[in-house]
Amino acid sequence: MLFTENFTPELIVESPGRINLIGEHTDYNLGYVLPTAIEKTITFKFRKNNSSTQCNIFSLGYDVGFKLDLNNISRSDVEWENYLLGVLNELLKRTDKLRGFDIIIESKLPIGSGLSSSAALECGLAFGLNKLFDLGISNMDIVRLSQTAEHTFVGTQCGIMDQFASVMSQEGHVLLLDCKSLEHTQIPIAIAPYKMIMLNTKVSHNLASSEYNTRKKECEDGVRIIQKKYPEVMSLRDATLSMLEESAAEMSKTIYNRCLFIISENERVLATAKALQENNLELFGQLLYEAHQGISELYEVSCPESDFLVNFSKQYDLVLGARQVGGGFGGCVLHIVHEEEVDHYFAEATKAYKIRFDIDLDAFEVRPSSGTYIAYEV
Ligand code: GLA
Repeated sequence: MLFTENFTPELIVESPGRINLIGEHTDYNLGYVLPTAIEKTITFKFRKNNSSTQCNIFSLGYDVGFKLDLNNISRSDVEWENYLLGVLNELLKRTDKLRGFDIIIESKLPIGSGLSSSAALECGLAFGLNKLFDLGISNMDIVRLSQTAEHTFVGTQCGIMDQFASVMSQEGHVLLLDCKSLEHTQIPIAIAPYKMIMLNTKVSHNLASSEYNTRKKECEDGVRIIQKKYPEVMSLRDATLSMLEESAAEMSKTIYNRCLFIISENERVLATAKALQENNLELFGQLLYEAHQGISELYEVSCPESDFLVNFSKQYDLVLGARQVGGGFGGCVLHIVHEEEVDHYFAEATKAYKIRFDIDLDAFEVRPSSGTYIAYEV
């Protein structure tokens, strides 16, 4: 009999996806980001199974499961399993209190859409097992070990933003996070009568594919060149535009563009946080458009589908701004749209996108939501 039949959970955890308002690819450059968790979650149902090391995990979405032995954790050929195996590998370095468990996972997060289903998967598992076996691991360590799991088992050298946002967010707020010091401020966000609307391009990226790690390396190359004149610069976070200009002649155009984007993007994050605090929504929108231009032309992680939607939105006065969110090459495009324009805008964008790409757009509203939480426990 499948373990999923007659499954009575002891613990249910909701692990959210995230959106990032602005500050893309700045996290691994130790800069600033402005993310928040969203209402869409991955649900984890946990129970202990009385075995000492045997575990079962089943995904309702993929309609497939796998078994594992806590004494023998190694990488799998199946990508989604590695997010979980990587977390177990990290937990086992920290504790000897883990025992056999069964889990059923159900995701309401579209995969590969820039909403960080990966961090939700990692952090939800770590958070739930921490609770189920009373491991005494802090939320901050859950964030860090989940990030490490992605480096070691998945192979993406990601920054800390996604895991941090998934665990640490508060309802009604965005997180201004300094990825160097990890200091963070919860900024209340109230943008009515505007709404945050995501349009899903339905074109998917694969972060493990080389581009993400290539961008990281290009930024590190830029830092090494700037360091020749400014040895105190340890990451692009420490660099200024004038330092970059002084080193420009020694860099390829590509490295220069990557650095220019990151240094300006850090400034845009701080400007956006200020605009939100002052309720300057016009400026907020304008900064989103500027960010997308950098994503597309300087950092080159956009794609024709995302560029199309961002440009299309510019004809509408009641759309204040738009940009692609997440690692890049598709996924969702965030739009700031007046509530009276949402339906009309979506209908027009859907029509135009269908003609251009023969793909049906999806749209949903996002609201800043709480980080990982317990929905049920016995
Ligand atoms: C992915 C990574 C994050 C971050 C974003 C780009 O989501 O996991 O760490 O770098 O891309 O901002």
